[in-house]
Amino acid sequence: MIIRNAKFYQGGKVVSKDILIEKGKIAGIGKFKGEGIDAKGLFAFPGLIDPHVHLRDPGLTHKEDFKSGTRAALAGGVTTVLDMPNTKPPATTAKAFKAKLQLAKKSAVCDYGLHFGATKNNFPEVKKAKPNSIKLYMGESTGKLLVDDIYSIWKHFALFPKNKPLIVHAEDEETLNAMKKMKGERGAIAEKIAVEKARLIAEQTGRVVYFAHTTTFEAVHLAKIWERSVVEVAPHHLFLSQDKDGGRLGKFSKVYPPLRSEAERRELWGALYYVDTVGSDHAPHTAADKRAGAAGFPGLETTLALFLDAYNKGMIELPWIINRMAENPARIFGLGSKGRLEKGYDGDITLVDLDEKWTVRAEDFESKCGWSPYERFKLKGRVNKVILRGNLVVDNSKVIKEAKGKRVL
Ligand code: NCD
Ligand code: ZN
Repeated sequence: MIIRNAKFYQGGKVVSKDILIEKGKIAGIGKFKGEGIDAKGLFAFPGLIDPHVHLRDPGLTHKEDFKSGTRAALAGGVTTVLDMPNTKPPATTAKAFKAKLQLAKKSAVCDYGLHFGATKNNFPEVKKAKPNSIKLYMGESTGKLLVDDIYSIWKHFALFPKNKPLIVHAEDEETLNAMKKMKGERGAIAEKIAVEKARLIAEQTGRVVYFAHTTTFEAVHLAKIWERSVVEVAPHHLFLSQDKDGGRLGKFSKVYPPLRSEAERRELWGALYYVDTVGSDHAPHTAADKRAGAAGFPGLETTLALFLDAYNKGMIELPWIINRMAENPARIFGLGSKGRLEKGYDGDITLVDLDEKWTVRAEDFESKCGWSPYERFKLKGRVNKVILRGNLVVDNSKVIKEAKGKRVL
């Protein structure tokens, strides 16, 4: 396969060259003869890697499953997803982890990896399953995978291989409970306290710690006091706020950690230089589940477009998007063949039309959940084509083909 006339970054400069893909790998960048896909007017990114998705399989497949969730990923320009363990059963035992891998192998249509879940005492299971990453919830969220005592947190930090990412949901359970009693809300202080605890224990144990969906400027900076901290942001804390969107969304505005104030949202933009990754935290729930109080937003089909729109408004540069949504996730999670448009890397390419204007309509989306917190947002910049290891799987913004997803983590 040859992709012609696309623009992309090569060595820090925008170039327009052909990209040759052979046997699923980028075989060369330059000028090549033969049939090709005309990508005139499109900009090429390395296929995006979303390190934080909840595809709900097994057990919660009325919300999403590996097929619908990976189709949503492709539609959003994401060619690799890393899935969270809060399924039913949760991926907290070697057996459940293995069974979940089988499901993904059968149904995933983009590349994937699974995060293993920490519990207060599953140390032998972690050892047995040998996962490449684990997720630890310091505060309760969907799925109740809570590890809120310092002893268990410390033990996981000490036992899990030091160079592999240990992902924390940093909201401190004791603080959440206290705040609920006092104010009836889930405040940003719970995040700062959790970040401090996890950061200090990471320093003591000398390990890499990955802070999921960090919501405030201060939390980013507290995390970064330790040099081996990795910081993720989720799009909703950058594009939505309680003040601006809480009223409009009502019960649909519930997400953990919560949307913050408009002032905090604006401040978070000022921390983006220090942020390492974007995770969509794609956490789909049906409308009925949302009305019943479920926390979480779908995000796979809107995240890149929101950042492209921000680029068009002069708020962010394209290299930041490429770095935080492809290069860094690949490096941090050890996905050696992913994340770069260079010879030898996987032929995963996301081609976007930077100028296309479109309106978000969840009814057009692949996700099963059927709604979006960005409904009717008018965005400039849209995914047009996606190539997964040499297969054209999205064309004219629609999934046109299902290729078999491959395990990468
Ligand atoms: C997530 C979910 O629904 O699985 N919900 C959320 O509000 N983000 C769980 C989580 O990541 O905390
Ligand atoms: Zn999540």
